[in-house]
Amino acid sequence: MKKILLNSRPSGEVQSENFKFVEADCPVPGDGEILVQAKYFSVDPYMRNRMNNIESYVRPYELNEAISGNGIAEIVKSNNDLWEVGDLVVGSLPWQEFAIPRAEKIQKIESGEGLSPTAYLSVLGLTGLTAYFGMLDIGQPEPGETVVISAAAGAVGSVAGQIAKIKKCKTIGITSSEIKAGYLRNDLGFDDTIDYKKIVNIRKTLRKLCPEKVDIYFDNVGGEISDGVFYSLNDFSRVILCGQIALYNLNRLSMGPRLYPQFLIHRTKIQGFIVYDYADRFKEAQNQLKDWLKNGTLKYRENIIEGFENIPAAFQGLFSGENIGKQLVKV
Ligand SMILES: NC(=O)c1ccc[n+]([C@@H]2O[C@H](COP(=O)([O-])OP(=O)(O)OC[C@H]3O[C@@H](n4cnc5c(N)ncnc54)[C@H](OP(=O)(O)O)[C@@H]3O)[C@@H](O)[C@H]2O)c1
Repeated sequence: MKKILLNSRPSGEVQSENFKFVEADCPVPGDGEILVQAKYFSVDPYMRNRMNNIESYVRPYELNEAISGNGIAEIVKSNNDLWEVGDLVVGSLPWQEFAIPRAEKIQKIESGEGLSPTAYLSVLGLTGLTAYFGMLDIGQPEPGETVVISAAAGAVGSVAGQIAKIKKCKTIGITSSEIKAGYLRNDLGFDDTIDYKKIVNIRKTLRKLCPEKVDIYFDNVGGEISDGVFYSLNDFSRVILCGQIALYNLNRLSMGPRLYPQFLIHRTKIQGFIVYDYADRFKEAQNQLKDWLKNGTLKYRENIIEGFENIPAAFQGLFSGENIGKQLVKV
C-alpha cells in the first residue's frame, strides 16, 4: 500500500519534495483492533504549522513519519465486536491507504441522515464547528451588526458568514476572485464582497461599504488584509482570531506593535481559540448545523480532488486559494 511521509521541513512555501511517497506492507490488526481503508482525506492549513519543528497546540510531524489529518475510512477487518466491517468512520488517520486507527481517535458515521458522509469533514466537521463556535461564542453577533470575514469562500469562512446572516447581520466577505465573490453574494447571501487581489486598499473600501464600521471581524488570514479591517473597527467590536494563513509560510514574523492603538481606542475584544476548546459541545453544534442544513438556511460546498497521489497538491492549493468551500481528496 502507498503512504505519504514528511520528507523534509519546508522553508517558506511547501514544495512537492517535502513529501515522500513510499510503498509499505498493509498493517495486520491484532486482538481488539480494526483495519480501515482510507476513502477521503481533509487537507487543512494548520498542517503547514505541523510541518515545522515548533511547539504548538498539536505536536509537529516527525521526519519520515506518515503525515496525518482528518479522514473518512471504511472498516475492512474487525477484531473488535464494537466495530463492524463496512462501517464508515471519521477521525484522525495517517496519509496511507490502510491503517489501524486508535479507537479513541475515530467515530462511526451514522448512515441514513440524508447527508453525504463527507459532510463530517466539512460543514459538520472541524471547519464547520470552528465557524460555529468562533462566530457564536466569541463574536456573539446581534441583529443589525456588521460582520467582516477573511478567507470567506473557504471552509470555515463560508459557514461563518452564513451564520452571521442567520443572525441577521450585514456580512462582508473578503476573498481572491470574482468567481468566489459571486458565489458568496449570489449563493450564500453575503451582502458584499471585497476581492483583495484587485482592491489594494481594504481600509478605504470598507469605509465605503460600511460607513457604520465593523462590529465583528472573523479573521482567518492575518497580515495586511487584517490590518485594513482593523482600521474600520467599531467601538466595542470583537475580533475572532481563528487563523493566520497569510503568515504560515513566513520563516520569520515581523515584530513590534502593529495596530494596537485601534483596539484600544475602540475597546475591541480580541480572542484566539482552537476548535477543540469546545469538544464537549460538538454534538450540540452539529445538531444545530444539521437543522440549518435541513431547513435550507445553511449551504456548503466541497472541492473534491480525486486520487491518493494528489493529496499533497490539494494541500498546497489551500495556499494559492484553489478551493471554494472545503478542500477534500477522494482516495
Ligand atoms: N482556530 C481553529 O481551531 C481553526 C480550525 C480550523 C481552521 N482554522 C484556520 O481558519 C483559516 C481557514 O481555514 P480553512 O480550513 O477554512 O481553509 P480554507 O479557507 O478553506 O482555505 C484556505 C483559504 O485561505 C486563503 N488564503 C490562502 N493564502 C492566503 C494569503 N496569503 N492571504 C490571504 N488569504 C489566503 C485562500 O482563499 P482566498 O482565495 O479567498 O484567498 C484559501 O482558499 C485558516 O487560517 C486555518 O488555519 C482555525
